[in-house]
This record gives sequence, structure tokens and C-alpha cells, in this order.
Amino acid sequence: MITVDLTGRTAIVTGASRGIGMAAAQALATAGAAVVLTSRKQDAADVAAAQITGNAIGVGAHAVGEDQARRCIDITLEKFGSVDILVNNAGTNPAYGPMIAQDHGRFAKTMDVNLWAPLLWTRLATEAWMGEHGGSVINTASIGGLGHEADIGLYNVSKAALIYLTKQLALELSPAIRVNAVAPGVVRTKLAEALWKEHENEVSGATALARIGEPEDIASAIAFLASDAAAWITGETMVIDGGQRLGDARAYRKGASLGV
Ligand SMILES: NC(=O)c1ccc[n+]([C@@H]2O[C@H](COP(=O)([O-])OP(=O)(O)OC[C@H]3O[C@@H](n4cnc5c(N)ncnc54)[C@H](OP(=O)(O)O)[C@@H]3O)[C@@H](O)[C@H]2O)c1
Repeated sequence: MITVDLTGRTAIVTGASRGIGMAAAQALATAGAAVVLTSRKQDAADVAAAQITGNAIGVGAHAVGEDQARRCIDITLEKFGSVDILVNNAGTNPAYGPMIAQDHGRFAKTMDVNLWAPLLWTRLATEAWMGEHGGSVINTASIGGLGHEADIGLYNVSKAALIYLTKQLALELSPAIRVNAVAPGVVRTKLAEALWKEHENEVSGATALARIGEPEDIASAIAFLASDAAAWITGETMVIDGGQRLGDARAYRKGASLGV
């Protein structure tokens, strides 16, 4: 029997003021964890935490700010006594267009938030708690990090590197700390609006499971990976995309529409 029971555990979810992070915070809280939600703004973190059914607080912390990350972990330990689960979810995509046209500013911002921050927060959580007591880290990657797409190459490079980082840390922090990633397809959030808002029917039609993702689709996988139900899973990247990586499903449905 699969049980996702996080009673007595504490989770930090970065970038949890909305979207996948907020849904993940709710899923972890529903499973019994105390949850710390971060945002760049204290107000937004507070508002998000107040919407969680369960034990939750908000902490303002820029994902790349080392002092802010350290403060967040300190507050978590003071308030809840442990940091058992870390969801490195904060992400950004400031750079649309060809890879070859990117400048250093956009490159650095993308890599700082999407790649350096997960490493930074994992290190701080390891030093403060997980190194001695164990834990579970989940990084929010993307199916973009497993393939190629026009115009979001820089973002996808950061996510491909995050998948590599996940495996590297799974080895370096073994056996006490499990490190996994989720790789969502197109999910209904603000960050991904350019990928679905103007053409949701088209994207849904081409997807094997006939819809785009909802934040809760990713959140339940994060809660699973955080839990003892995933006790022998580390270094993995779980694709959650409704079958989008399989390619355009429409051509394959001809048989079904003919009643074959
Ligand atoms: N949606 C998709 O289709 C999709 C697909 C694959 C992967 N992902 C990944 O999923 C993760 C969550 O994104 P989302 O789609 O849920 O987007 P979203 O709804 O726009 O949420 C992004 C979250 O990240 C926070 N954030 C952004 N930059 C931050 C920073 N520097 N420090 C701290 N927090 C920061 C935002 O908080 P504030 O603005 O309040 O600071 C917000 O809570 C990202 O890593 C993204 O790359 C999304």
C-alpha cells in the first residue's frame, strides 16, 4: 500500500507564492508536514501561507540571496524544529529567443535562480539539519531539460543542468539525503503563460492525456518523492507531462476514431 504520510516532518518550498510551489506546499501540508513557503516578498509569502489548509508560514527570501536563505532555514528550525524536506521550486525564464542571441545578464539570472539557488539551499539545509538527520530534496526541473525547443534554449539548458545536479547531489549526499527532481510539461501557471494561454486547445489536443497540466498534478508527485513511499528512489527525474514528451498524439488517435 502506498502511504504519503509526512506527519512530524517539516518542508521548505521555495517559490511558493503561486503555481506549482503553492500547490506543492498544500500537498505536503495535506500529508501532514509543517510547511514554509517562500517568495521574494514577505507579503506574498504570508498571503500564500494563509491560504494553506494545515500548518504553514511564509518567509520572504530571494532564492539567490545566501543570507536570506540562511535566515529562512533558521526560522524554520526555530519554529518547527527540523528541515526534513526541501523543494527547490523557484524558477525564472527571463530569456526568450535564440540561445545565440542571449547576453550575460539574462544568462546569469537564469542560471542563478534555476541552478545556483537549488545548490545553495541544498547545501544550507544539509549543513543545518539534513546532513545529520537525513532528508529529501526535490528539484523542479522541466521536460525542456530532456529535449530541445526553439526560443527557450537558455531556460532548458538551466533545467538540463539541474537534472545533472540532482544526480550529482544524490551521490554526494547519499545515503542519508535523497535528491530527486520532477520534470513537468506545460502547466497552467503564470511562468508558462506563453506556452499555453493563446493556444490551450492546440496544446491540449496534441497531448496524450488531452489537457495541459494543473499545478496539483506536479504537487502530488512532489509529495510522493518527499515521503517514505519513495524511500528507495534517489537521483531520479520524474516526468509529469500528460504524455507530452511522446509527441503529438493526434496522428495516433486515428485508429480510435475509426472505432478500431
Ligand atoms: N508551468 C510550467 O509549465 C512549468 C514547466 C516545467 C517546469 N516549471 C518550473 O516550475 C517551477 C515553478 O514555476 P511555476 O510554473 O509554478 O511558475 P509561477 O506560477 O510563475 O511561480 C513561480 C514562483 O517562483 C517564485 N520566484 C521566482 N523567482 C524567484 C526568486 N528569485 N526567489 C524566490 N522565489 C522566486 C515566484 O514568487 P514571487 O514572484 O512571489 O517571488 C513564484 O512563487 C519553476 O522552477 C519552473 O521553471 C514550470
